[in-house]
Amino acid sequence: MITIAVLSQKGGVGKTLTSANVAAALADQGLKVLMADFDPQADLSASWGLDDDDPRPRIENFLDSSGRDLRDAVVAVSEDRDIGLLATGYERLRQQTSRLLAGDGSELARLLAPLHDEVDVALIDTPAGDTVFGRQAIVAADEAIVPMLPGFHELRAMTRALDVIEARAEHERTQLGLLGVLVVNADPRWRSTKEYAHHLAQMERANEISLFETVIPRHQPVTEHARFGLPTVWLRPSCSVAVAYRQVAVEVRERLGRRVPAVISSATSGAS
Ligand SMILES: Nc1ncnc2c1ncn2[C@@H]1O[C@H](COP(=O)(O)OP(=O)(O)O)[C@@H](O)[C@H]1O
Ligand SMILES: [Mg+2]
Repeated sequence: MITIAVLSQKGGVGKTLTSANVAAALADQGLKVLMADFDPQADLSASWGLDDDDPRPRIENFLDSSGRDLRDAVVAVSEDRDIGLLATGYERLRQQTSRLLAGDGSELARLLAPLHDEVDVALIDTPAGDTVFGRQAIVAADEAIVPMLPGFHELRAMTRALDVIEARAEHERTQLGLLGVLVVNADPRWRSTKEYAHHLAQMERANEISLFETVIPRHQPVTEHARFGLPTVWLRPSCSVAVAYRQVAVEVRERLGRRVPAVISSATSGAS
């Protein structure tokens, strides 16, 4: 299992959308995929249709349950793909804050460990900023995807995020690679998008960052897709955002190389 944390200092930059869609697109490629919703806002869980009254299991109930089988916590979100979700309920993870602060920082890593041999790629969705939840994700993860919008504050936030990731990883004595910075929610026609793409490409040439080649375009209807309980790649497989996230998943796969199995893509897109 390779674990990827989706991290950003900013909210509303597409972390949750990226987590759900990259996970679904990797599952379409035939990989065994797990998502962990480690954001107290529970947006990832909600975007897979798990509202707060849903009786299915929640990650917070397994955080202190040594001896319980974590497989019981995994919610299967597809009938024909190997993709599961460790869901949470709105603000329920927040109630775990003091316990997580009192721990050694690796509660989430320990929670995921039993699934190591059963999952190819795990994606952890996190809240914005330098939170106890994000720190747990940094400890649990091997790699990070950092989504960013093209913009001045966003560029500063992205470089801050990279500094925080590096400092945190050093502090926790874990290795966390940067799988890539992903430009999201951008209109390729905007001058600002081109300017920032150029600037980021320069940073990449200077080896300051690693950048995904794919840019996720802005497409207004996507804001409504979460209501349907399915990621855009399955709900609207031909829309521009779905096409782009499938490309990102291909890039993710390439970047992970031999660390994920070379399965032949048995599934096609559009499971809905
Ligand atoms: N490429 C996009 N096109 C249109 N809307 C988007 C796009 N990416 C994200 N959004 C919308 O922006 C909002 C914030 O995205 P979200 O994934 O929840 O961000 P975060 O998890 O970083 O807070 C959501 O309403 C989402 O649907
Ligand atoms: Mg989110």
